[in-house]
Amino acid sequence: TTERTLVLIKPDGVARNLTGAILARVEAKGYTLAELKKVEATRELLEQHYEEHIGKPFYEPLVEFMLSGPVVAAIFEGHRVIEGFRSLAGTTDPTTAAPGTIRGDFGRDWGLKVQQNLVHGSDSTDSAEREIKIWF
Ligand code: CMP
Repeated sequence: TTERTLVLIKPDGVARNLTGAILARVEAKGYTLAELKKVEATRELLEQHYEEHIGKPFYEPLVEFMLSGPVVAAIFEGHRVIEGFRSLAGTTDPTTAAPGTIRGDFGRDWGLKVQQNLVHGSDSTDSAEREIKIWF
């Protein structure tokens, strides 16, 4: 059963020219790139995407960060791609994310109000379908 996930390369990943390196890791793992685009997010789009975080202390800094530059949005496909991408990405805090993961190898905490952690990946089939509709 083929599954889809939404992958975002956040503004820090794009600004640091890591788009190709990040996409290459996902492809090398064996997942198929189905759709790809560079997007300037809007506040409205981010409000939908991050609706579960509205009201949290990092919400406003998170939105400002996601508006700070272009984002690359991708749809990857494959059996268990949701879990597989999250494993490739590593844990939320890039300082302690395991080496070998995208966040662990390329990211760190810069002492800002938001975790600049390079990538987003959907966390369930329901959120993947919801998020894909928002971005594509
Ligand atoms: P992501 O899991 O893609 O979506 C929510 C984002 O909010 C998360 O990545 C981080 O970029 C950010 N985030 C989550 N938790 C915190 C936190 N405790 N402090 C700052 N930023 C956070």
